[in-house]
Amino acid sequence: MSASTTERPACRISVNGTDHDFDGPTHTNALDFLRGEGLTAAKEGCAEGECGACAILIARPDGDGTTRWTSVNSCLLPAAALDGQEVITAEGLSAGDHIHPVAEEMAVRGGSQCGYCTPGFICSMAAEYYRPGREEFDLHALSGNLCRCTGYRPIKDAAQALGTPEATDALAARMT
Ligand code: FES
Ligand code: FES
Repeated sequence: MSASTTERPACRISVNGTDHDFDGPTHTNALDFLRGEGLTAAKEGCAEGECGACAILIARPDGDGTTRWTSVNSCLLPAAALDGQEVITAEGLSAGDHIHPVAEEMAVRGGSQCGYCTPGFICSMAAEYYRPGREEFDLHALSGNLCRCTGYRPIKDAAQALGTPEATDALAARMT
């Protein structure tokens, strides 16, 4: 049987506030797409959803017109499934001279050594940071992230040191 030659329109994916087109092979995962666009914070560790090194944030509708920032493993997600969606990567959280509170806590509390897992931890931690109604940090939010060298205590310290987002926080503003 010959392969289909049907062309499909390019997907349009918002990444860190900038539109990107994707018209590559349908088996391309979101991690490879992002890294191909030069956004290399998300890493491939296991490529099978076990380590969280590839975690990114996706804006999901909350049912009442607001946004719920959700962490997903980009190695498991087809890039084409992001058509029309909005992605934030670790680069986007700490753009320019602004360091995101999650990244800052990870840095000052020694939550990163080789750094390979760190962008994934930051995205998973940010999803919990932005959880509506959060009073304490639920460490289960990090249960899908593995670190091979820092040890988990400084990462836990960083998570539990987080306050609530500032009123000026652009991602928090989308939740109300
Ligand atoms: S690379 Fe390990 S969960 Fe995606
Ligand atoms: S800092 Fe090296 S794997 Fe986590």
